[in-house]
Amino acid sequence: MEKIRPLIWNKDALLLLDQRLLPWEKKYIPCHNITEVEEAIRKMVVRGAPAIGVTAVYAMLLAARELASSPEINDGNTFKWELFLRKLAAAGNTLKMTRPTAVNLSWGVDKVIQQAEEQRGASPDVLLLSLEELASNIYTEDIAVNKKIGAHGATLLSSPCTILTHCNAGALATAGYGTALGIVRSAYKDGKVIQVYANETRPFLQGARLTAWELLQEGIPVTLIIDSAAGYFLQRGQIDCVIVGADRIAANGDVANKIGTYMLAVLAEKNKVPFYVAAPRSTFDFSISSGEEILVEERAGTEITLFNGVSLAPEGVRALNPSFDITPASLITAIITEYGIINRPGQKTIRDFFTFKSQEDNL
Ligand code: MRU
Repeated sequence: MEKIRPLIWNKDALLLLDQRLLPWEKKYIPCHNITEVEEAIRKMVVRGAPAIGVTAVYAMLLAARELASSPEINDGNTFKWELFLRKLAAAGNTLKMTRPTAVNLSWGVDKVIQQAEEQRGASPDVLLLSLEELASNIYTEDIAVNKKIGAHGATLLSSPCTILTHCNAGALATAGYGTALGIVRSAYKDGKVIQVYANETRPFLQGARLTAWELLQEGIPVTLIIDSAAGYFLQRGQIDCVIVGADRIAANGDVANKIGTYMLAVLAEKNKVPFYVAAPRSTFDFSISSGEEILVEERAGTEITLFNGVSLAPEGVRALNPSFDITPASLITAIITEYGIINRPGQKTIRDFFTFKSQEDNL
């Protein structure tokens, strides 16, 4: 079976699988410069925090290439490093604002800037090669990280197991494999009897269009439900656990994820069902102490009132469309990372977990 690849680097351009057209059409949009990538991120051609992070790294590579060949910076004899780095950072700041909630975007931008700074004084060819190598490593690493999350998470699942998920935290939301759906994939591969209930996820329908499509591709049993039916199934004892992804996790374990996640966490607690968050280390933002500091992206109201150009509400009605919400750490049973499982996440458990893991890495 063909692998799902939301982004492909072809050395000249970044090809982005247009997720707005799925599941009806599979078409890649080539992006030749950072402006085209910004447009694609804003319009949700590519979405999902880790996928946006990897996309950002390639967008910055395209920006670096353009800057390094501009006569203002490179006249063939001298390379104006200060100007190059200043302009690269400015390009990164604009890119960061395209989807402000997903921290992986800033993480990707900062990785490229750091690498460029480390190359200061090198020839432009060496600089660009090193950035391309960085991008390729981050891409490969993202898939490897997801597989580790998948393996750790699968240990938590019984067999049979019915999992409720929200939005799409699958191969399409990452470089490949997925975080929440990575766990589903791993458990299924281990031979566990898995059933996924996918919330359709209004208004962009990432659950109906993307999660359902991804799982059907691999023959993993999936049942689509409307977002407001989640409580019904949880109350009837038909769900064994909830697993979602994350767009940003504060130092105290509060999680920003697709709007509707908080509601699920409250319902899960009320019905004594474990609520798991699957996310890589790069989704943790230790610069903020709690979820209150997370900027929640507001998207256009027309995403609610229109779908594919079809009107769903009376013309002129006011619609509010926050794209994410914040789930307090107190409602989260565990966060599953590539390093292992953080039970009952909180400021201390998270800090101790990563300190211990970094000490282990240094041994
Ligand atoms: O608006 P989106 O589709 O980018 O939102 C995506 C989500 O909320 C995902 O659950 C999150 O990014 C985790 S993806 C592995």
